[in-house]
Amino acid sequence: MSLEARKSSAASRVQRSVRSRIPLARVPQPTQDRMTPTWRQARPRRISDSLAVSQAQNSGGWFVAGVSADVPAAKSITRTIAGREVVFWRDTDGSLVAGPGACPHLGALLDGCAVADGTLLCRWHGYPLSPRGDRTWSPFRAYDDGVLIWVGLPVDGETPTSRPALPPRPPLDRSLSAVVSIRGICEPQDVIANRLDPWHGAWFHPYSFSHLVVDDKASDKKVLAVDVTFRLGRTWGVPVRAEFFCPDARTIVMLIVEGEGARSVVETHATPVGLDEQGRPITIITEATIAYSPRAGFKVATAMASMIRPAMRKTAKRLWVDDLVYAERRYRLRQRGEFPG
Ligand code: FES
Ligand SMILES: [Fe+2]
Repeated sequence: MSLEARKSSAASRVQRSVRSRIPLARVPQPTQDRMTPTWRQARPRRISDSLAVSQAQNSGGWFVAGVSADVPAAKSITRTIAGREVVFWRDTDGSLVAGPGACPHLGALLDGCAVADGTLLCRWHGYPLSPRGDRTWSPFRAYDDGVLIWVGLPVDGETPTSRPALPPRPPLDRSLSAVVSIRGICEPQDVIANRLDPWHGAWFHPYSFSHLVVDDKASDKKVLAVDVTFRLGRTWGVPVRAEFFCPDARTIVMLIVEGEGARSVVETHATPVGLDEQGRPITIITEATIAYSPRAGFKVATAMASMIRPAMRKTAKRLWVDDLVYAERRYRLRQRGEFPG
């Protein structure tokens, strides 16, 4: 082999090796005047049909209430979910307990109470509440999925189930997860409808996405298959294929099915809280990004989780600043009877 041929074969080996370790592609970002408009594909009827299918599912009365780490070993926390105060704490084996948030004695809010041997002691007069309940107090269904906590409440039109419908997740011990929570003035369906319109992605969030195409042949009312490039700047990006679907009426999931990070998921949960002083509905969006990659470099990333999580949260929050504008606008238009969809 000539010296030139040896040099070129070495160079292509290096290129292959770099490509196998670094998933970037040179995908220059087009300016908006060169982008294909997506409004023809984003038919209001198509989005509302998918939304109707998602809303017809039985959610079993389950609501995401926060992050697993929110509930410590020996203290209670409270949340307002669907207009009810709910208390959470942990039993002796670490399992999650949930129940009405008012003490049956004189109604104290059961927040920040001590827990001894799995029994909560009300901070006003020490009334003991056991995880099994008694004739004055009955626990709710509760579930800790390892990332998020859930409570099962009685809800009109929903048949209670023993577990929430969890989407497929990559192995948690080899993944990197980060959760953000954002509060909006809208209803859960506005949050779900925002994500059932992937066509806005490259137009509305050009700092995060480009080259977004919905594969109509692979999509139906339950699943949207999307090819998209995650932006890492104006020149470089990471092309992937993702699927959007709703495992219940208050959750929408983006699962990476091909490309870098296949099996990673972004779960968006919309939890109704209640009404604000002006009678408007408050919804908390809890978004869990569970990133996974079989690459060797990713093991280093999971080991550095505490340094990487803030960046993951920042990215998710930035997207939700815009997506809340969309969801809250949709809600206001619906209220005024002016929503075009
Ligand atoms: S209000 Fe809880 S013990 Fe009295
Ligand atoms: Fe969006």
